[in-house]
Amino acid sequence: MSSVSPNVYQLVFLGPPGCGKGTQASYLKKELNYRHIATGDLLRHEIANKTPLGLNVQSIMAEGRLVSDEIVIELLENHCDLAKGPYLFDGFPRTEVQAKMLQEKIIKDAAVLAIEFKIDTNILIERIVNRRTCSQCGTIYNIKFKPSKNQDKCDQCQSLLVQREDDKEDVVTKRIQVYNENMGPVLSYYKNLGLLRQVDASLLGDTVFESIKQMFE
Ligand code: AP5
Repeated sequence: MSSVSPNVYQLVFLGPPGCGKGTQASYLKKELNYRHIATGDLLRHEIANKTPLGLNVQSIMAEGRLVSDEIVIELLENHCDLAKGPYLFDGFPRTEVQAKMLQEKIIKDAAVLAIEFKIDTNILIERIVNRRTCSQCGTIYNIKFKPSKNQDKCDQCQSLLVQREDDKEDVVTKRIQVYNENMGPVLSYYKNLGLLRQVDASLLGDTVFESIKQMFE
């Protein structure tokens, strides 16, 4: 992939489960040095470590529902420092309250672009049920579209690939429903500020990445 000049935009990735936010975030992190912050990953880390917060949110996530705004906002504030470099927010905001909080408390006067990943719902389920993730480094695979070379081992670190707890078809359907119920006001929020861009997320991963980079130019 070709290199592009560094940019100063904070990025917000908005899109339904399985649209490719995490996949594109890994490209931006590698090529443009973005700091990738994914609230889903932060929450799964809390669950894996059996913290009080993790125990509190475990069943909510397993059912595909949203964790409360208070919990995710606090988690984000504890893990985010814009002085360290440009951030890419993945899976946040998911409600209008979160969008306003992100702007007022974290992004403030910094330049920001919100990118909506547009994709048909019927593609999502196939992507998600076939997703596998490295249990150590988090690299994302797909047994149909992007398999690892070594069956159930990560190409990067050889650790075991696992399926996420909430990637079963019935939970995925619920997650998509929750997304559709909540995202209207979030998209309107960014649209009204003139900050919303869209990308066709049904295309090949490299093509999606090129489209995103063009938004900076
Ligand atoms: P979270 O972890 O944020 O999950 P999500 O938004 O549902 O998104 P995913 O991680 O499932 O998908 P993705 O878009 O990153 O797709 P990926 O790149 O992996 O949230 C999980 C839960 O946490 C929520 O349900 C909620 O409970 C809680 N939560 C998190 N944040 C919260 C918040 N702010 N407020 C409240 N609750 C919150 O790709 C998917 C698959 O497709 C992969 O296998 C990949 O290889 C493949 N793929 C990707 N791109 C392509 C392509 N272009 N072509 C073909 N295949 C592709």
